[in-house]
Amino acid sequence: MWFVRFLTSSIGKKWLMAVSGLLLLLFLGSHIAGIATLYLGSTAFQSYAEQLHSHMLFLSLFRIGLLLLFMIHISTGLFLFYQNRKARPNPYRISVRVATHSLAAHAHGIRESLPLAARTMPYTGLLILSFIIIHIFGFSFGPQDVPVAKTVVTLLRSPAYGLLYIFSFTVLAMHIHHGIWSLLQTLGLSHPRFTVFIARMTTILPIFFLIVAGGIPLLLVCGVDL
Ligand code: HEM
Repeated sequence: MWFVRFLTSSIGKKWLMAVSGLLLLLFLGSHIAGIATLYLGSTAFQSYAEQLHSHMLFLSLFRIGLLLLFMIHISTGLFLFYQNRKARPNPYRISVRVATHSLAAHAHGIRESLPLAARTMPYTGLLILSFIIIHIFGFSFGPQDVPVAKTVVTLLRSPAYGLLYIFSFTVLAMHIHHGIWSLLQTLGLSHPRFTVFIARMTTILPIFFLIVAGGIPLLLVCGVDL
């Protein structure tokens, strides 16, 4: 079938990465909008969480979809990473490629996405995966007899946990910074006319997520009552 042949081709795998990445980004945007209710206080956050849990069928389907998306994104990413490494085992050639790309972008006055963010995508991806495992065990599978708002506030108030969160969000911001750039290229949505706009968005959006999500553990560690 043409569809299966497309998905197993190199370009098909890049599309899988891009589309799953875009959907995960949409999940992240909606999750961060939800957790931002914590800025209004624990009661607002608790009622948001209870609203969400009152639609159990929807939530279960959503979680299955999310799990599938993560599995597709991670397995395809690792596959492409090893395939690239096999095709280009000499790291010097990678540096030349990045350097040439940077120079070309510089010559055209284009704001280059950070080469560091691009080169560390598989590693930042694996760090985010570790964070998500810790996160889900702490919150989704946290104590069922305690309101989730209380669990969140108690855990994130601890400096070790809070700092781990802020570190993870910084890594996530780096990953998204290059990810948005890369997915727009793959999906053919990077018209030269929008280069400056796209370059700004790849920086503004991750920083916005970092401030909104990272602000919560930061305030709690600093002793602010939420
Ligand atoms: C301070 C920031 C954050 C807070 C307070 C927070 C809070 C929560 C809570 C309370 C849950 C459990 C929801 C439930 O049981 O219904 C949850 C689940 C989850 N969070 Fe976060 N989260 C934060 C940031 C993030 C980030 C940055 C990511 C992505 C990298 C993320 C990914 C997830 C995932 C994948 C789940 C599982 C989905 C689910 O249980 O429905 N979270 N989060």
